[in-house]
Amino acid sequence: MAETTAPPPTPAVPLAALLAQGELGLRQIAGPERSDAVVHWVHTSEMADPYPYLLGGELLLSAGVLLEDPDTYVARSVAAGAAALGFGVTPVYDTVPAGLVEACDRHGLPLLEVGTYCGRSTILLADAARAAGVTAVTVDHHRGSEEQQEGWEYHDPSLVDPEAGRMDTLPSFRRTLHRAGLEDHVVAVVGRSPQIARLWQTPLGLVFIDGGHTDEHANGDYEGWAPRVADGGLLVIHDVFPDPADGGQAPYRVHRRALASGAFTEVSVTDSLRVLRRTGPGI
Ligand SMILES: C[S@@+](CC[C@H](N)C(=O)[O-])C[C@H]1O[C@@H](n2cnc3c(N)ncnc32)[C@H](O)[C@@H]1O
Repeated sequence: MAETTAPPPTPAVPLAALLAQGELGLRQIAGPERSDAVVHWVHTSEMADPYPYLLGGELLLSAGVLLEDPDTYVARSVAAGAAALGFGVTPVYDTVPAGLVEACDRHGLPLLEVGTYCGRSTILLADAARAAGVTAVTVDHHRGSEEQQEGWEYHDPSLVDPEAGRMDTLPSFRRTLHRAGLEDHVVAVVGRSPQIARLWQTPLGLVFIDGGHTDEHANGDYEGWAPRVADGGLLVIHDVFPDPADGGQAPYRVHRRALASGAFTEVSVTDSLRVLRRTGPGI
């Protein structure tokens, strides 16, 4: 019960050691930067309030199924002695809810995103490709976007190649595909998006744009790949935030551009994900 504050008689693992294991796909996104938290055990719970069942020292895993009030949830997890919170992105949330990030910062609880960006969307697309009997192609230079570089919000030092001194997400991406058993359904093309787009001729049934989030890169992706979307095919754009308070505006501008072109019609909106269908020529 939560009133018990003594940690369980299991060997403690420093949270930092878990974070350093790249293959676990954990990334700390809130809470004390240099946490000395130690994890005694890992528990999953989708209860709205797991407080009565926590003994202390847990890495508590949740996908936020019943998450309603992040502040109360985090405050009570801290009161029960939880060591850290691991939040699983997809299937319930596409990204970790901002309210949860703020609450963990406020209450000093390390918050880990579970499910790294090194292949997360690819495995969903590859799974769909497998079901449809087609192949998914991913394009990435694997050097990370602007916001993933050192000193930026989404930097993950475990993804830096020490020899090159640069980000290298390719090994982690390959592990993700391997673990998901989807290697046979994906072709990974390593390189710069506009350069590859110039070489690409095959019409595509679906294009998912989630690359660099500056205007230059987002427009480059659109101009390079949208022309290849087949008649009736889908153009999917991630991180579309009409309100600047929610995030960068470049993908939103590209989304508006696609609609204004008359070539695409919106078919669905899920959080920041917009799905458009080609209903006319051009871009
Ligand atoms: C937001 S992450 C993609 C996340 C991915 N969709 C997922 O869910 O795991 C953006 C990726 O775009 C790549 N990128 C950014 N600009 C690029 C460019 N010009 N050409 C190729 N890849 C690029 C980065 O290396 C980074 O891995």
